[in-house]
Amino acid sequence: MKSRIIPVKLQRPISEYEIRVGHDLLDGCGEWAKNLLSEKPGRTALVSNRKIFGLYGDTVKNSLVNAGFQVSVCLIGDGEKHKNFQTLRQTLEFFGEKRFSRSDTVIALGGGVVGDLAGFAASIYLRGITFLQIPTTLLAMIDSSVGGKTAVNSGFGKNLIGSFYQPNGVLADIKTLGTLPKREVTAGFCEAVKQGAVGGEKLFDLTAGFLEKYQPLDNRKRLADQGFLNEFENLLAAHINFKVEIVRNDEREAVENTDKSSRKILNFGHTLAHSLEKVTDYRYLKHGEAVGYGIMFAALLSKKLGLLPENQVKSLNDVVHRTGKLPSISHIDPEIVFDTFKYDKKLVNDSLHWILLNGIGKPIIFPHANIPHLTLMTALEEIIGG
Ligand SMILES: NC(=O)c1ccc[n+]([C@@H]2O[C@H](COP(=O)([O-])OP(=O)(O)OC[C@H]3O[C@@H](n4cnc5c(N)ncnc54)[C@H](O)[C@@H]3O)[C@@H](O)[C@H]2O)c1
Ligand SMILES: [Zn+2]
Repeated sequence: MKSRIIPVKLQRPISEYEIRVGHDLLDGCGEWAKNLLSEKPGRTALVSNRKIFGLYGDTVKNSLVNAGFQVSVCLIGDGEKHKNFQTLRQTLEFFGEKRFSRSDTVIALGGGVVGDLAGFAASIYLRGITFLQIPTTLLAMIDSSVGGKTAVNSGFGKNLIGSFYQPNGVLADIKTLGTLPKREVTAGFCEAVKQGAVGGEKLFDLTAGFLEKYQPLDNRKRLADQGFLNEFENLLAAHINFKVEIVRNDEREAVENTDKSSRKILNFGHTLAHSLEKVTDYRYLKHGEAVGYGIMFAALLSKKLGLLPENQVKSLNDVVHRTGKLPSISHIDPEIVFDTFKYDKKLVNDSLHWILLNGIGKPIIFPHANIPHLTLMTALEEIIGG
């Protein structure tokens, strides 16, 4: 087992847990969990979906059993549409029927959907029981499993019902990404480009360089290559470190915090992304793919407002394209997209704000009201028209 540990130190309450990143870690996840939880291994609810459990469930379950845990498997449906109240209720009932107590543990094995739902269930069952995450998508490893946001979707929007609930540990095994479908790899890398764009030139260059050297779609074969594994691990660790740092400074996304240290900067590329997802009924684009378009749009808008030089817009576009092929959006009506921007108002004082760039790695929060309508529309037409 080769891995590195990224500590997450939090202020409220003062606490610390580890994110362990490496490869071939699943076999040892039972010992990892036992060491982290310090008490005698008790019962665990292993929450996953059928697909992921089919791939990695036996390895994880056997490792937990060998370490002395009693494991009950709770499978939820696959996909965003199952991240809802009904699945939450079924999951909580599962914990209740098994008479889980506060000394028992919930383990999420899967992508952001499983992690967000299991984390939310763990946070409200008996007012909070121990929670571990084993993320299996790129997005979950660098983004959703870091930072303690948990949620379900509801009739009035995505992720609006949830909690801040930090896990007691996260175990990210890069080898699990070998089975990830191509589009999910692209989607995860788009979120990585987003983090690079707001995180600083170093993180951006590292991400851009990695994507230039390794076409992400070939990653599957390369996972057997030690050199590739090391570089991939470095990249993931750099992204996790960046997100950990942001979260440490703004654990609960304070409303009044609108500077560069705010967690809000992680919404770069997300206003257009949310609109594209909404107008296509959350079915056509993966969230990360929509973020890919959102990055290029925010870059173009930043250029039109005199904030970002042309060569940096080109760098951002090039890197987004290196993540893989994004589904065409040329059939979408820019006017309808424009009309849905208003739903993304939660950012600052209930008025729409854009996360733009003053340069790569230099995000700013910019009021929508200060952007001429024509500037927004022409940028939108350019991005949608391709
Ligand atoms: N909590 C946060 O801070 C945060 C941040 C970003 C996104 N999110 C949430 O994360 C969710 C998206 O997460 P996601 O992109 O991981 O999607 P996902 O969980 O739906 O996983 C994508 C698909 O890949 C499959 N899969 C997962 N791991 C696999 C593997 N190793 N091999 C093969 N298939 C695998 C899943 O079954 C699913 O079909 C959204 O609900 C979003 O709102 C949360
Ligand atoms: Zn996102």
